[in-house]
Amino acid sequence: MSKRIYSRIAGTGSYLPEKVLTNDDLTKIVDTSDEWIQSRTGIRERHIAAEGETTGDLGYNAALRALEAAGIEPSQLDMIIVGTTTPDLIFPSTACLIQARLGAAGAAAFDVNAACSGFLFALSTADKFIRSGDARHVLVIGAETLTRIVDWSDRTTCVLFGDGAGAVVLKADEETGILSTHLHADGSKKELLWNPIGVSTGLDQPGKILMKGNDVFKYAVKALDSVVDEALHANGLDKSDLDWLIPHQANLRIIEATARRLDMPMEQVIVTVDKHGNTSSGSVPLALDAAIRSGRVGRGQLLLLEAFGGGFTWGSALLRY
Ligand code: UT7
Repeated sequence: MSKRIYSRIAGTGSYLPEKVLTNDDLTKIVDTSDEWIQSRTGIRERHIAAEGETTGDLGYNAALRALEAAGIEPSQLDMIIVGTTTPDLIFPSTACLIQARLGAAGAAAFDVNAACSGFLFALSTADKFIRSGDARHVLVIGAETLTRIVDWSDRTTCVLFGDGAGAVVLKADEETGILSTHLHADGSKKELLWNPIGVSTGLDQPGKILMKGNDVFKYAVKALDSVVDEALHANGLDKSDLDWLIPHQANLRIIEATARRLDMPMEQVIVTVDKHGNTSSGSVPLALDAAIRSGRVGRGQLLLLEAFGGGFTWGSALLRY
């Protein structure tokens, strides 16, 4: 009987633009305060892409680090998937641009747009290709320059977002890796968090993020509660089996609510929202890479990743690192 194939994380990497914008810097742009931003969101600062620095640049740099950590050459990649909602171009995809720069000739490359859940949607897709035997090495990237589509005169949104990218290299392995992924969407709530600019709808809209934060907050907490329950149930696991929660970094209060649902002390939760803000698709792989490189997350540990974003979209990945 042939052995079961899993996707395992062979290596991770991340990249943040150099420029840091603090909460105090924001008080010079809009009517806000460090106290309000920290108490409502947990954010202290965020990184901002330099002029001319693109999502593809951030993703490429994160990918180089992930490939190095994995000890895998670009020529070994079968597929590159980029989760992003701020692609460099309408086409080709950001994944194609990164594929060319890496010299990963022949590898399939495409983007996935699921807003802040983009990385988990990309990871899940990669996992299916590996489990089916159609790919052995897949580079999965979450990369964003969300600050390019922020309305800098809207204090209810401009304080929340940052730029950055994270990446993982998945490889086919007989040892346990990703145990499950679960993805969901509800398009009927699109107007609670969206950017109404389009191509086929016309380019005459303002093209900035619009959000009814309070409503999004409530949906996010509910959806994340249900998706973490779903992940544990599907694997016959108990909350106490988890070593780490690696959540989407939108708001510390949302993260704390999910941790409470799992009876997890915050010592077992990776928090980077204070330093990165909400980097959308970049947030989960940035947090994962920070946790691995700092030595907190180790091989063999059980990790629960989750995200919620515009669409609405939400999802989880439960994996043994
Ligand atoms: O990643 C995708 C998913 N996105 C999210 O998960 C975001 C979810 N939502 C949130 O994180 C929170 O709803 C926010 C952080 C966006 C807002 O926090 P909130 O506690 O829900 O505040 P609110 O929207 O209810 O606003 C409370 C007050 C309002 O003033 P009034 O109407 O009570 O006088 C706002 O005008 O805070 C005011 N406010 C601000 N004050 C200072 C809103 N933004 C600011 C600001 N500085 N930046």
